[in-house]
Amino acid sequence: MHVPSLIEKKRDGQALAEEEIHALIRAFTLGELPDYQMSALAMAVYFQGMTASETAALTHAMLHSGIVLSWPAGSPPRVDKHSTGGIGDKTSLVLAPLLACDGLWVPMISGRGLGITGGTLDKLESIPGFRTRLEEKEIHRVVSDVGCVMVGQTEGLCPADKKLYALRDVTATVPSIPLITASIMGKKLAEGLDRLVLDVKHGTGAFMRTKEQARALADSMVAVGTALGVRCAVRINAMSEPTGRAAGNALEVAECAECLQGRGPADLEDIVLDLAGAVSDTPRATHGQRLRDGSAWRKFQQMTAAQGGDISVLEKITKVHAAPVIIEVPAPASGIVRRMDAGTIGRAVLALGAGRSRASDPVDFAVGVDRIVKTGESVTAGAPLLRVHARTPAAAEAAMRTILEGVEIR
Ligand code: URA
Repeated sequence: MHVPSLIEKKRDGQALAEEEIHALIRAFTLGELPDYQMSALAMAVYFQGMTASETAALTHAMLHSGIVLSWPAGSPPRVDKHSTGGIGDKTSLVLAPLLACDGLWVPMISGRGLGITGGTLDKLESIPGFRTRLEEKEIHRVVSDVGCVMVGQTEGLCPADKKLYALRDVTATVPSIPLITASIMGKKLAEGLDRLVLDVKHGTGAFMRTKEQARALADSMVAVGTALGVRCAVRINAMSEPTGRAAGNALEVAECAECLQGRGPADLEDIVLDLAGAVSDTPRATHGQRLRDGSAWRKFQQMTAAQGGDISVLEKITKVHAAPVIIEVPAPASGIVRRMDAGTIGRAVLALGAGRSRASDPVDFAVGVDRIVKTGESVTAGAPLLRVHARTPAAAEAAMRTILEGVEIR
């Protein structure tokens, strides 16, 4: 393989052959292709894009750069969802146990929060004892005993993505649809899935700002999933306000505990039921019933216990992680709430310490916002718009100022 010729080929807008892509990713994973050549290739892809078959080949190469979970013949269908993330997006914690109630297997591998978007693993780790780093053998055991598991990416899973993402992060090549597709789908398909639903958000609180960008990413991911034999569905939605009424790690776990018992905010339950319907053939009403009759809640408790979490504190998680300062943000006017901007709330929650600016930053489980008034609801001047949970009065005041910049009441 003559790497400069392959970089040149992509730079000049030609398509790489499947075997060329495989050879490049294999060499990169083994450390035989230097970072400077891979960075140049990523930049060429950024400018020239990739065809659908190149993107599928890249995803296949990434997925097979490490272990791929395999499941015994005759096991239930393996399903999962990927969300491109958003503010207060806690759907995974409700969806995984709900799908397990349906007899499906959900080997969910999730990520940590970065920037304004929170991460499933951070939320779960606010539950004392909850282990998100499981060996492959344990993942299999929990899935076959409970039906679902929620863990982080193991060392051996998609190592090419780990290396390539780190390079993209420092070479301004993250926002490339073929590279994002291969990165996301490589990791998801390494779970050995049969079906996948993609929850793609757009708006101020999302990775993709416009609906067109979200559609383009969704189409690319569905094309790759289908080419690689996985039944894919997609849900494209605006993330203009936070999902549910809470954003922050323990605060979101508390909201999930409510939703898992049929008492969650309507928008959160709606998204969960949409996503469940996309990978399961069971009627929506049955999924809804499983939230109300305690089945999904029991399944979540079983999974938590199987992963070492203390289930006795699940319903008092905000007492385990209690922020010392809690303030109510008063509505500046009376009327209907027209805007409760997700991006602005995301920035405030990040500054409170609930998220991380760099991958190595710690997160504070206790801080965030809750009791958020939803758009379309009416408020009177001075009544609470939401609560801020902070470490210090100064941090709470700063969050309040930021949040009010994104509020419109008319
Ligand atoms: N998330 C990923 O896992 N990869 C990307 O490239 C972008 C978002």
